[in-house]
Amino acid sequence: MTQISGTPAEGGKVQDISSRVQRESVVVIDFGSQYSMLIARRVRESKVYCEIISHKATWESVARLNPKGVILSGGPASVYEDNAPLAPDWVYESGLPVLGICYGMQVMAHQLGGIVAPSSKKEYGHAQISQNAPNQRIFQGLPSSMQVWMSHGDHITEPPPGFTSLANSENSPIVVMGNDKGMLGIQFHPEVAHTPQGKELLENFLYGVCGCQPVWTPGNFVNDSIRRIQEQVGDGKVICALSGGVDSAVAASLVHKAIGNQLTCIFVNNGLMRKGETQQVRDTFQRHFQTNLVYAEATEYFLGALKGVTDPEQKRKIIGAEFIRVFDEEATRIGTVDFLTQGTLYPDVIESDTQGDDISAKIKSHHNVGGLPEHMKLNLVEPLRYLFKDEVREVGLELGLPEEIVYRQPFPGPGLAIRIIGEVTLEKLEVLREADAIVLEEITANGLYRDTWQSFAVLTDTRSVGVTGDFRTYGHVIAIRAVNSDDAMTADWAKLPYDVLGRISTRISNEVPDVNRVVYDITSKPPGTIEWE
Ligand code: XMP
Repeated sequence: MTQISGTPAEGGKVQDISSRVQRESVVVIDFGSQYSMLIARRVRESKVYCEIISHKATWESVARLNPKGVILSGGPASVYEDNAPLAPDWVYESGLPVLGICYGMQVMAHQLGGIVAPSSKKEYGHAQISQNAPNQRIFQGLPSSMQVWMSHGDHITEPPPGFTSLANSENSPIVVMGNDKGMLGIQFHPEVAHTPQGKELLENFLYGVCGCQPVWTPGNFVNDSIRRIQEQVGDGKVICALSGGVDSAVAASLVHKAIGNQLTCIFVNNGLMRKGETQQVRDTFQRHFQTNLVYAEATEYFLGALKGVTDPEQKRKIIGAEFIRVFDEEATRIGTVDFLTQGTLYPDVIESDTQGDDISAKIKSHHNVGGLPEHMKLNLVEPLRYLFKDEVREVGLELGLPEEIVYRQPFPGPGLAIRIIGEVTLEKLEVLREADAIVLEEITANGLYRDTWQSFAVLTDTRSVGVTGDFRTYGHVIAIRAVNSDDAMTADWAKLPYDVLGRISTRISNEVPDVNRVVYDITSKPPGTIEWE
């Protein structure tokens, strides 16, 4: 059993002392808009740190972020409904600049004494707005008339005292309103691509109105994180499970940069990885970064446990349990351990922070260490806890990780086992690895790798009749799966060029022994899933 020092975090929960950059920020108060996360991403793309907070957040909980401005998000409610969410008083009393977007604008108008009413005509889609007040900082450098994206039912009929209309549209005399204290409301969505000058407008708010500096950069993040990890860990010992994926790789290299040999990485080779992947993880972490790496060769254990098993859920359970057993065994060998590093990302944090908050959009949950035994619920070091996926990749590049790891497509924890239909054997793994490598080679060679969410081969449990030379064959059928997606919740089958598909097919049937047929899966999700099992 692993000897653990320090206090186990309650239920494995993180202490909130991770790499949060407190130089300065802008916070987004979430009223449940499908676009809240997009607003936060846009702000960060403009190099200003941004977090999404609940509309119930207290000033005490927000002050530590050193906010220079507040954005009130859109949302599905109407301010006149019972229990419509409102902004906390500190938003208006703090003297900070405020930008209300859509519902956020209506909330601001309502709370500050203006009048909001249902529109006779709901506005969805493109609209043209015209400025009607000169020299406004929010419009700096923008044309007097511009295209925007609207999505609202209510609108402002009378601005609150001290506010004036700064722009109008055909349907509304007040699509932008402002006062002389840096409080602004806009009826449209600057964060979506359909508002072509939305980025400039947001930047006018961030730089011109809030006075923010563009300092949220990967380099600054790395430096600040190093300091925070050092503060959190002290001279404690940290372990990290490497999976081969980008999140754990970036988390591990960041922690390694901060505390060097106090970190030990554990890589469990379950025998279910793709061709060359195991070697690449070892090369990167052992040779390049010179981290303490425990390499646990566990192929035999995993394949032994999977012998004769065909049920997909059963396979997942066995692989999960086996992983924990091997990981625990290796961690025990290390001795006293104080912390566990995980590559948890911001979308997961937003979800757990807003659980029970009925207005928030539901975001897919995933639990990287679900099922760890009680004695392994260590204090967590989660240096990526406030990053979006694309920021994790930028930080990975900043840390010198190879592009093959940084831009790696998602790969499921149970690995190739859920891409082999039926029983998993060494022989089938060999067939699938070779076929999969060809898919990835061709996808990459044709410049399609980064534009495709996932692309891989599946070994079906079907055999089909074929002919090679003068001989009849009875070989495996390989299915190719390639999808486009934003978040894996839904996916569309990728319209790969025929010549690429043709080349993949020819190469697999020529180069991979015992395969005589290749098919392309043209099912979207739903009704299919991305993986076959
Ligand atoms: P499905 O097949 O449900 O997959 O459409 C959605 C995304 O999740 C990945 N996936 C998994 N990842 N453990 C994981 O870590 C799993 O058991 C698992 N099953 C599916 C899949 O690759 C896709 O990106």
